Amino acid sequence: MNCSFDDQTVIVTGAGRGLGRSHALEFARRGAKVVVNDTGGDVNGNGRDPGVAAAVCSEIRAAGGTAVPSFDDVAQYEGGYNVVKTAMDAFGRVDAVICNAGILRDLAFHNMNEDDWDASLGAHLKGCYTVLHAAWPVFRQQRYGRVVMTTSISGAFGNFGQANYGAAKAGMIGLMNVLKLEGEKYGVMVNIISPAGATRMTGTVPSASDAGRVAQANVNLPEQVTPAVVYMASSECHDSGMIIHAQGGQFYRIAIVRGRGLPAEPGAERNAEWVGEHWSDITSLDDAYVMWNLGQTRADHDRAAQPA
Ligand SMILES: NC(=O)c1ccc[n+]([C@@H]2O[C@H](COP(=O)([O-])OP(=O)(O)OC[C@H]3O[C@@H](n4cnc5c(N)ncnc54)[C@H](O)[C@@H]3O)[C@@H](O)[C@H]2O)c1
Repeated sequence: MNCSFDDQTVIVTGAGRGLGRSHALEFARRGAKVVVNDTGGDVNGNGRDPGVAAAVCSEIRAAGGTAVPSFDDVAQYEGGYNVVKTAMDAFGRVDAVICNAGILRDLAFHNMNEDDWDASLGAHLKGCYTVLHAAWPVFRQQRYGRVVMTTSISGAFGNFGQANYGAAKAGMIGLMNVLKLEGEKYGVMVNIISPAGATRMTGTVPSASDAGRVAQANVNLPEQVTPAVVYMASSECHDSGMIIHAQGGQFYRIAIVRGRGLPAEPGAERNAEWVGEHWSDITSLDDAYVMWNLGQTRADHDRAAQPA
């Protein structure tokens, strides 16, 4: 296996710092022409600093790589469009999009105002929509594309004080589940990274959420997350619909599964008391399985796609 990016263009949003910077440097080292997108704002999403994306481009060029900056705000439709336009104008194609840009507006739900909600959903979830919506026609026309969105265990499992962030991060899982289906016949693979690595963002998470876990996250490096992102963005990866957690050299899959539950029995009465009395069977995850779409497992789907 060789995860090379020679002759490929990779867009990394939020690439001016932290995880995105680590991804961008590694893509460039592996031959990619990189669009380094970053507004350069503060961790709450306020302010702008074009020097942040420009510095990563300089670093890439100093190492012999190729990169162009984009200072666009991916939370705006025009911003996402311009990120892709930057790639097309400079390099004429887009092979992979890494949706990584993000902010934090942590507050207990009762203190979270509409602006905190909209800013978080905008940077994270709409930030995926805007760039991917612009890249999608390019992928379809090329009949090739790779997408890696960046979720969080906050969205997958929950974290106190992150209602906006957790909702946005979980929303990406829904977006992936649909795009993996719509991209399939065009060779577009859509996957998700769930990272943990010490960045300025983790430095702001209050230790009250779980002192032990945060302390552990703070010794993990962004560079230890990047290999999973690079593999999923490469032409070597033919899987789609995966959520991979990466932290400190550990990698594992996160999935939404379907329980076996209890089957319908035609004519049998199923009232609330019956549900309560059978709650442990209904909620059991024994023999649970992952669905590929509404009605098929991946194995069902692959069998149906085989020529007769
Ligand atoms: N660090 C972790 O442990 C961790 C854990 C789970 C998820 N994440 C996610 O990983 C991603 C990267 O986080 P990080 O820890 O490297 O944080 P970071 O703050 O170091 O980097 C995020 C970058 O995104 C940029 N950005 C923010 N909003 C933007 C916008 N609208 N348009 C363009 N750029 C924008 C910022 O300027 C910043 O440079 C985020 O989506 C974050 O939610 C990080």
